[in-house]
Amino acid sequence: MRHEKRGNLKMATPHNAANMGDIAETVLLPGDPLRAKVIAETYLEDITQFNSVRNMFGYTGTYKGKKVSVMGTGMGCASIGIYSHELIHFYGVKNLIRVGSCGSIAKDIKLGEIIMAQGACTDSNYAHQYQLPGTMCAIADYELLKTAQETAAEFGYPYRVGNILSSDIFYTETPEWQQWAKMGVLSIEMESFALYCNVARAGVKALGIFTVSDSIVNGEELDAEARQNGFTNMMQVALETAVR
Ligand code: ADE
Repeated sequence: MRHEKRGNLKMATPHNAANMGDIAETVLLPGDPLRAKVIAETYLEDITQFNSVRNMFGYTGTYKGKKVSVMGTGMGCASIGIYSHELIHFYGVKNLIRVGSCGSIAKDIKLGEIIMAQGACTDSNYAHQYQLPGTMCAIADYELLKTAQETAAEFGYPYRVGNILSSDIFYTETPEWQQWAKMGVLSIEMESFALYCNVARAGVKALGIFTVSDSIVNGEELDAEARQNGFTNMMQVALETAVR
């Protein structure tokens, strides 16, 4: 840890202006900070904003009477690595639920489906910091995953649970995704591996839930209306998981 935990209660980090107590134990983490604003304004009550450093907006409010926060993470393992580390080590956050979009690489997955990341593979070097004598298997918290799966089943939303790839590379000249697809990996996003590593190292919990926004297999993308519906389903699952 390059930045040590501060001893006083009123504290901020280089990237987060919140004071201790401003942030709930459970935080929803969209990549896009404007998405965090929309989530807070749409789904939470009694919201207060705790961060705007670098426009990485963070809010705390209540959902069904329980305190929940939502904050952007930015894109990629490096960015979510910083924000989730600070939430855990400086603000005492215990449950980190990433909500995002992903591109499918499995042929039978439909646009708009929900993917729950049971595990996250990566092409990033994020786990290098732990000096492990092997390969890290980055996994979701079982209880969060079970709750999300039960919630999606209860609501009747189409969902898949499985392995995903957190890639450092969005634009690529070579179709590496085909190799991951052969290993049963369902879809690609860019952040969950770092999140799962950070929570494993800290002994707290995380889950990544995604809407399939595009197919890397055939280039199809959700239109605006379908994207909104998929997002709404995913948010309902994430919020119920946050408070159950
Ligand atoms: N998030 C949504 N679609 C994606 C894709 N095709 N690659 C990486 N991250 C994504």
